[in-house]
Amino acid sequence: GLIHTIKGLTELESALENKLNIRKVLVVPGNSDESELVLKDMGRTAARFLKKIIKKSNIIGITGGTTMAQVAEEMPKGKVANDILVLPARGGLGKDVETQANSIAANLAKKLDGNYRLLHVPDNIEQEAINALLKVSEVKEFVDIIKKLDILVFGIGRADVMAERRKVSEETIEELIDRGAVAEAFGHYFDTNGNRVWESITVGLSLVDFKKVNNVIGVAGGEKKAEAIISISSIREDMILVTDEGAARKILKLV
Ligand code: G3H
Repeated sequence: GLIHTIKGLTELESALENKLNIRKVLVVPGNSDESELVLKDMGRTAARFLKKIIKKSNIIGITGGTTMAQVAEEMPKGKVANDILVLPARGGLGKDVETQANSIAANLAKKLDGNYRLLHVPDNIEQEAINALLKVSEVKEFVDIIKKLDILVFGIGRADVMAERRKVSEETIEELIDRGAVAEAFGHYFDTNGNRVWESITVGLSLVDFKKVNNVIGVAGGEKKAEAIISISSIREDMILVTDEGAARKILKLV
């Protein structure tokens, strides 16, 4: 029955907090590998949590992807604090407008009646071009602000899926596999133990920056992302994770 299900989820949440050794876990019922509605539910849960912690003048970073698109989409409309600023955490990842960090940041800011800034950096660009971009005052300013994030909401992906989506070369994919990459978050790739093994060339949040953000909220579900979630959870003990039952049950089998 319903009561039993709810109790089951609460138990799952505390079991995951212990096993992953992170601050807080929220689990929604179902498996987003199988249902879009579960992805929506995760988005809604993350959005509500986010809305509760936003304070005046906060700077909020958000990444791209289908999960983050739902977080913005499901954010209840209405101002919670004055002078908030929403930024895409990193540049790049181009084609689908709906799942670009830029569009998501703008959507989220509008929902919260806040301000936003966009970052335009193409994908698969050479380091030299990045260095040139970093000299543009708008970009430089952006990179400075990103270091002052109060809150980061980010998606967690499988390394193989994300490498494919970012259209990285076959050689790089092989190298990623060789180095044991299982997870991708904010353009960085990590092995099972949360060691960074590769970083895509772009502008924005660095791993050092990530470790300094006060509130980090990772949102990812589906059984297939279990290993990726385990990896990212090992980077920060005080992370907040919003996930689904599918991922949660799989994680408990793996750790
Ligand atoms: O970095 C990981 C991605 O944001 C995950 O994308 O939510 O579409 O699976 P997704």
